[in-house]
Amino acid sequence: MRLILLGTAAGGGFPQWNCACGRCSRSRAGTEAMRRGQDGAAVSVDGENWWLLNASPDLPTQLVATPELWPGPGRRQIPLRGVLLTDAELDHTLGLFSLRECGGLPVHAPAAVLASLDRPTPSAGALGLRPVLDAYGDWRWNEAAEGVASELGQGLTATPVAISEKRPRYRTGVRDAGPSVVAYRLRDRSAGRELLYAPCLSRWPDRLDEAVAAADCAVLDGTFYSGDELGHATGLPGGGGQSGMGHLPVGGEDGTLDRLRCHPGTRRMYTHLNNTNPLVDPASAEFAAVVASGVEVPSDGDRIDL
Ligand code: MLT
Ligand code: MN
Ligand code: ZN
Repeated sequence: MRLILLGTAAGGGFPQWNCACGRCSRSRAGTEAMRRGQDGAAVSVDGENWWLLNASPDLPTQLVATPELWPGPGRRQIPLRGVLLTDAELDHTLGLFSLRECGGLPVHAPAAVLASLDRPTPSAGALGLRPVLDAYGDWRWNEAAEGVASELGQGLTATPVAISEKRPRYRTGVRDAGPSVVAYRLRDRSAGRELLYAPCLSRWPDRLDEAVAAADCAVLDGTFYSGDELGHATGLPGGGGQSGMGHLPVGGEDGTLDRLRCHPGTRRMYTHLNNTNPLVDPASAEFAAVVASGVEVPSDGDRIDL
């Protein structure tokens, strides 16, 4: 199984277009090593048939930068076989609009995510992405139920792990049954290898420890390094709303790094890094500390072979 990290930044990317903080300014003036697109990945067990994990607004650029995902040899032949969504956040779903030219693909997502993307009703905030895309092709919207493995072809399966009920801001106040955020266990049945993709963690359920332990490689939410960095970096009142954004920090007592230390047998790495997170800078002390703990901070375009 091969995973390609198409993007590794949180919503807004790095640099974030409207941010003039020191790090974003250095990113604009610097090299590619200091830039990250919004997070998403592609996975394949045979190198020919690929599934996307989320679809960021940066997807068109990411597809051009990734030869494995180029079309051909037929004029309109593509290697993409479908999309798995972990949640309905804008940074994980708006890229679907940019796939409209392909005539439709299967999309797997939890029921609450499918509802968030559906037609808006007077009572429910919904993005309306599904009915718009349906006008452009034969999109197949499949409910990914917790703990149930979906067959993706070539012996690859995807099993959702329920993470939280955290809903996108546009769906505030709507009640959905079941999780609004999941992780996926991706299993290559013939090779017996497993990958865990969990880019949105507002909490750490016990079942996540089981999933990290069972995985050969785990890619996890590394949005914020500390619990209060957004306020410090931006000077915005109320800490910039970080506490309501639903991302466990990497460091500190409730941090994910301490959780990950319990799983030294699994290859572990962070994605969805916010521009305020010192981990976006390979020269930072925090980057060195995380890497010294045995957890990786990969770059856009990195390939992970399992
Ligand atoms: C999140 O991950 O919390 C969201 O993507 C934030 C956003 O971009 O609105
Ligand atoms: Mn996000
Ligand atoms: Zn910034």
